[in-house]
Amino acid sequence: MLENYPSNMTGEIVLGALAPHPPHLVYAENPEQNEAYAEGGWETLRWGYQRLARKLKTIDYDAMVVFTPHWQTYIGTHFLGLPHFKSKSVDPVFPNLFRFNYDLTVDVELAEAMHDEAANSGIITKMMRNPDFRVDYGTIVSCHLLNPSWDKPIVTISSNRNTHYYSAEVMNEQSAALGRACKKAIEESGKKVVLVSSHSLSHRHFTTEAPLPEDMSKEHIYNHSNYVWDMKLIEMMREGKMKQVVDILPEYTEQTIAETDAGAFTWMMSALEFPQYPAEIYGYQSVIGTGNLVASWDPNEQTRELVL
Ligand SMILES: [Fe+2]
Repeated sequence: MLENYPSNMTGEIVLGALAPHPPHLVYAENPEQNEAYAEGGWETLRWGYQRLARKLKTIDYDAMVVFTPHWQTYIGTHFLGLPHFKSKSVDPVFPNLFRFNYDLTVDVELAEAMHDEAANSGIITKMMRNPDFRVDYGTIVSCHLLNPSWDKPIVTISSNRNTHYYSAEVMNEQSAALGRACKKAIEESGKKVVLVSSHSLSHRHFTTEAPLPEDMSKEHIYNHSNYVWDMKLIEMMREGKMKQVVDILPEYTEQTIAETDAGAFTWMMSALEFPQYPAEIYGYQSVIGTGNLVASWDPNEQTRELVL
């Protein structure tokens, strides 16, 4: 009986993942969907992703909800709103690395539920119903590395550019409100959902590329200051101080030009009610000088692990 009435059940967020999206990581994996060929590279991050992907295979979930910095909207927050998108995604900065043929499904019911709940709470929202819309590479890279079989539907949420239009403080408030609305919508949907915050940490990067992009003898963090900031954040994540992390995000974002400017991390932490338990750390490495962390927050004490 219950199976016929999923909306009567209580939905939940079963995992939150910090999933950076340098196209280099997909390039280095050589999946059949990507046209470029690599000799490897960035193994610390890719092996960390592979371990997190194996954990995800052990978790029962209905959909993955991704908040991405590379679908940038200036009027409101937008949600993917058609059941199927298929096209080629080309990274505008690294077309030499990433020309990915994607074919993905969307949980439109869940997208509409989050859209409606956000709208009811006063957030400006819109459903993306254009069949020719090209899904951004942030969504594709993070989803591919977390679930290479693409056997779960996704929902992508756009980044409303509050940091740049107003300030990082305004972004923190707005994305926390969006996180609360999405959490409520997920609970009322009866679905089990994985949240994905798709971005790097510190984001200063080199402006020239090595002749061989995967030449790991050329890869290092952009500067020591960014490294120290990233390590401070990771230490606080280990200690379960997520409210404090979000409180210092505006300063962190400004000091390290961090990709937390997009609001994804605050959104996810707000939806998870600012965890006071330790994050699972899967790997940290630089990509063209940026700081990237693969991590997750597992609300289930029975399955939460000390990974690294
Ligand atoms: Fe990015």
